[in-house]
Amino acid sequence: MRMEYELFNRETTAFVYGFQVNAIQRMLDFDYICLRNTPSIAAIINPNQSGTHKAFWGAEEILLPMYRTIAEASADHSEVEVMVNFASHRSAFDTTMEALKQESIHTVAVIAEGVPERQARIMATTARKLGKTVIGPATVGGLVAGAFRIGNTAGTIENIVASRLYRPGCVGFVSKSGGMLNEAFNIISRNSNGIFEGIAVGGDRYPGSTMLDHILRFEANPKIALIACLGELGGEDEYRIVEALKKGRIRKPLVAWVTGTCASVLPASVQFGHAGAKADTQRETAFSKNEALREAGAHVPTSFDDYGEMIRQVYQELMDKGLAKDVEEPEVPTIPVDYSKALASGMIRRPTTFICTISDDRGEELLYANKTISEVIEEGLGIGGAIGLLWFKKQLPDYAARFIELVLQITADHGPAVSGAHNAIVASCAGKDLISSLASGLLTIGPRFGGAIDDAAREFKRAYETDLSPEEFVVEMKRKGINIPGIGHRIKSVKNPDVRVQILVDYARRNFATTELLDYAQQVERLTTAKKGNLILNVDGCIGVLFLDLMSSCHLFSKEEIDQVVRLGYLNGLFALGRTIGLIGHILDQKRLGARLYRHPTEDITYMLPSRDGI
Ligand code: ACO
Ligand code: LMR
Repeated sequence: MRMEYELFNRETTAFVYGFQVNAIQRMLDFDYICLRNTPSIAAIINPNQSGTHKAFWGAEEILLPMYRTIAEASADHSEVEVMVNFASHRSAFDTTMEALKQESIHTVAVIAEGVPERQARIMATTARKLGKTVIGPATVGGLVAGAFRIGNTAGTIENIVASRLYRPGCVGFVSKSGGMLNEAFNIISRNSNGIFEGIAVGGDRYPGSTMLDHILRFEANPKIALIACLGELGGEDEYRIVEALKKGRIRKPLVAWVTGTCASVLPASVQFGHAGAKADTQRETAFSKNEALREAGAHVPTSFDDYGEMIRQVYQELMDKGLAKDVEEPEVPTIPVDYSKALASGMIRRPTTFICTISDDRGEELLYANKTISEVIEEGLGIGGAIGLLWFKKQLPDYAARFIELVLQITADHGPAVSGAHNAIVASCAGKDLISSLASGLLTIGPRFGGAIDDAAREFKRAYETDLSPEEFVVEMKRKGINIPGIGHRIKSVKNPDVRVQILVDYARRNFATTELLDYAQQVERLTTAKKGNLILNVDGCIGVLFLDLMSSCHLFSKEEIDQVVRLGYLNGLFALGRTIGLIGHILDQKRLGARLYRHPTEDITYMLPSRDGI
């Protein structure tokens, strides 16, 4: 049950408006160390997304519901009385007004700075009319020790523990400034049995609730024995407290200080950090206000430095009269350190899941191997250069990078009839999207289509390095019953040569220092084409042997690196990459044509079913 003079207690639950992940976690961490039975956040309101949010409750995880609107959240959670409003200064007014309309919501904390003064006044009068409370705008909020915390009030968990805010003391504190609130928690915890409740009303000229509003609640609350406040120069708020003191509405001891006494030594009327912190008249100066408070009976120190000491004295008097007593400290559960923080601070370590040696996006600029992408562009490394960096971790000489680009160009397409294009076209016509159709085409790459480059490189290399003569190689493969990878084509032949192969060979002869493996492969080709005209060195075979010639003649690769390239199957990647260009073209071509393939013509298929008697 919440008493009239309370805004929050250990049962209070709130909506957090705005998906403020850190503030949400801070509220829950506070609840946890206060040993609350249930979280103080009932739901999050996020106009962009509904669903759930996973957060920590100690070391466990809990799910908080997330709604798009205040109305929806309120309909499902009629027990919620508070909204912590993180809406921006543009939306703070509308959302606060809507929250005030909900019957169950009695307090709205408005965090945003820069809410227009006209809107702030409407929020304040609306709340007053409805008997509700607005804290803020331009505030961190406040808290009731051991019970409920608004958003980020009191800062880190270490600060909260140091100021013993996990359990109630007997001091009710109110300030304008949120920063001073944290400072006061600290001072009060060292000079008394600690805070019962602390509120920052916000530094604007028209706060939703005034310092006096909260002081009067503290006056009514039997658990509060000492009231403390920190005002600031500018405005009239402190004179309302003076009036209340004079009329006897504040009977509990009040320790007060108005900051900004230094303004008098500055040349002209100075605007301090808050919108309201500016004294336009003598009456609004910190000096005048402190005097008025002192005269009205508040305990006013001579400077802010003595504020803590003044609290200590007043608290001691209350103790002497038996109106306050020290609190037995409960055991405080520790909040586990967040994994990311612990890792960043070097407290813990863990093995990474995998290693990357080719690129790095953690710095200011993306790196390909050891080069920033700006350098890649400025130095004109092109696609071939990028492949050199990302596949081989080397800056290849220009002729080598251009060779890679040549390979990509000549393998980009070979018409619609080949396996890859055929599959991609069928998938596209069957209504599959671009990526699915592309995958369907790429999946056909293998030993009989485009994927013979590595096998060809490996076999020719093995034969050459083991000193097999071309004749011996052909005989050996025939004996093993293996067709030499990279030899033979269904269409191309001696009489119908493959121009792509000629282009590659010409380029290599003009640019490579040596072409030993190509020479060897061509000797093999002479033998196989003597058998049958179509047993030419095909595109795959030609790329395979030339890449090995490139690597060994450019002197950038060790023998081990070349072996690794062949062993790990780098080179089919060249065909896959090049052919992707053409496959995408075919897929889009079909889509442009609106082609829809529902069935293959049955004439394309020979039907040979088993006979009915099982043969
Ligand atoms: N290497 C060595 N000898 C071969 C090869 C070969 N690749 N292919 C066929 N032969 C021999 C056969 O053993 C046979 O020898 P024999 O007369 O002494 O008995 C003779 O050549 C005729 O064989 P066929 O099977 O009739 O030849 P066919 O023309 O049908 O085979 C094929 C051509 C299927 C292309 C075959 O050469 C082959 O599988 N090549 C390797 C696959 C390849 O590299 N694919 C990539 C193509 S390029 C690309 O996709 C981008
Ligand atoms: C290609 O480049 O797709 C072709 O060489 C394959 C083929 O079967 O013709």
